[in-house]
Amino acid sequence: MEEELIQIKNSAVSLILDAKDKRELDDLKIRFLGRSGRLTLAIRELSKLPKEKRPEIGRLANEVKNTIEETIFEKESRLTKQRSQKLKEKIDITIPGIKPLIGHLHPLSQVLYNVIDVFKSLGFQTADGPEIETDKYNFGVLNFPKDHPARDTQQTLFLDTHNSKHTPGETILRTHTSTMQGRIMEKIKPPFRVIVPGKVFRYEQTDSSHGFEFWQFEGYAVDKNITFTDLMGTLDYFVRKFFGESTKIKFASHNFPFTEPSLEGYVSCVVCKEKGCNFCKQSGWVEVLGGGMIHPNVLNNVGIDPSRWQGFAFGTGLSRLATLKFQMDDLRLLTNPDLRILNQF
Ligand code: PHE
Repeated sequence: MEEELIQIKNSAVSLILDAKDKRELDDLKIRFLGRSGRLTLAIRELSKLPKEKRPEIGRLANEVKNTIEETIFEKESRLTKQRSQKLKEKIDITIPGIKPLIGHLHPLSQVLYNVIDVFKSLGFQTADGPEIETDKYNFGVLNFPKDHPARDTQQTLFLDTHNSKHTPGETILRTHTSTMQGRIMEKIKPPFRVIVPGKVFRYEQTDSSHGFEFWQFEGYAVDKNITFTDLMGTLDYFVRKFFGESTKIKFASHNFPFTEPSLEGYVSCVVCKEKGCNFCKQSGWVEVLGGGMIHPNVLNNVGIDPSRWQGFAFGTGLSRLATLKFQMDDLRLLTNPDLRILNQF
């Protein structure tokens, strides 16, 4: 018995010292000290020994148990130390870290906030409205009679009203943000100054300068004694603040059913400074907006007395402004989600 205990101790200690990792050590613990481990079984045999021998052998068995436990403990802490040492060698704290990707505002949003800032400084409020519209606000209120040829210029997309309670042709995708003239003027009393940025839709073939869905923003002001030159001055101020002080604006007469008189605005090409380039189709100027004095019929339609109040309104393509500002040669880049493109702006 004595010899067996000593043998158990020697083989346990040498195996423990040779253990390569924690797993091997755990196995050894079970093999010697577990419920059917070698030492446990040997201790159980003690009861078979003659009574006078038991205390002495018992003491030895205890010593063997303590030695095995201590060796395991020491080995365990040595293995842990070795592991953390190895880990330390693996981490090179001098290697530069991985930079997290930082996003930025989409070019259209940058332009949008820019526009809002300029008009805010002129006392304009910003409003928002629905993209799915009714004939009434897109055309009716704006002085487009039902069979007026000017409706054709709007290349309207109609919603399918099949099996619904809507009258065919009445529900559409808004073709311009001018819809918000009626919606807002019906609700608030003059004087007011409002801009409305938003998405509009037209049945249009897409190419580098046209899209079936694009951004516009509308601006209008109603007050006493507002004149056509207030409109021109406001637009001139906006263009200089938005594109830079040296940018020029010129106007040509135009026609819209909802403004009288009406104008079209062109800005000097930001790329070639009026010399002529591909961007401005060699003309030196780019068309960016339409506007005019709000037609008395429109004011009447929303319950504002045109003999007491006057107003101007204008609408401009926000997407067009963005491509000009960033000198993008294709409008479609604005709806392209490729980060390699977006990161350039
Ligand atoms: N809504 C017109 C368009 O989309 C622009 C415009 C707005 C013209 C306001 C006059 C006044 O072409």
